[in-house]
Amino acid sequence: MTTTEHKHVPRHIGIVMDGNGRWAKARHRPRSFGHNAGRKAVREVVEGCLRQGVESLTLFAFSSENWLRPEDEVSALMDLFVRALDKEVDELHSNGVRLRFIGELDAFEEPLQKRMLVAMKRTASNDKLHMNIAVNYGGRWDIVQAARKAAIAVARGDLPVEAIDEAAFNRWTCLSELPPLDLFIRTGGDRRVSNFLLWQLAYAELYFTDTLWPDFNQVSLQHAIDDFARRERRFGRTGDQVAQA
Ligand code: IPE
Ligand code: IPE
Ligand code: MG
Repeated sequence: MTTTEHKHVPRHIGIVMDGNGRWAKARHRPRSFGHNAGRKAVREVVEGCLRQGVESLTLFAFSSENWLRPEDEVSALMDLFVRALDKEVDELHSNGVRLRFIGELDAFEEPLQKRMLVAMKRTASNDKLHMNIAVNYGGRWDIVQAARKAAIAVARGDLPVEAIDEAAFNRWTCLSELPPLDLFIRTGGDRRVSNFLLWQLAYAELYFTDTLWPDFNQVSLQHAIDDFARRERRFGRTGDQVAQA
């Protein structure tokens, strides 16, 4: 595997891991077979990020809207999360990965919530890679929960309304202590954000691939990183200004 020659490695990558269902369907297997196969792709991207020195990786595993799926698929996904936590955390921990779950965690069954909390506590002091898993997460929810926290602080008299600016508001959103999202990747061919990190992806580079999530691997990640490295990020300035800087 080649490594990126340039130094333009994104500090924070977010991935909408999409296409498990279609991957399974093409093999005449149930959708849950595809979700299960997606675990290997997760291992691949974690390894790729560790190798490349990516600081933060945020994976969309279950959206606020995914509760609308058939009951058996939702329960298969919940079982998969439990099994994955039981199996994968040791290795992640020994690789120095800090694991964090973002989203409305209290909607999950007690045993799953407990596993998530234990995994977060156990890996809390690791710093090789910040791995964040978005579950029962929605970008709109994230913004609303931040607004609610701001409102509480104002109502208590702890915060003047004028003190709410972008930087202050950002502190109440998920992942505020990590670098902002540099690279957004979506597998599975659809070109939409589907309520992933709405606030955080304001200036992310967007990368879409037709590869279905279970087929995504370190080479696929490398392609995305190489594509990112070729982009000119202007942040509102002109290309000439960027070239001079
Ligand atoms: C993404 O794959 C996984 C989750 C949403 C949990 P899908 O299950 O959405 O796969 P497709 O899009 O139906 O192929
Ligand atoms: C987005 O995929 C959510 C996750 C990958 C967890 P979906 O498959 O749910 O997105 P839509 O419904 O096609 O927009
Ligand atoms: Mg999908």
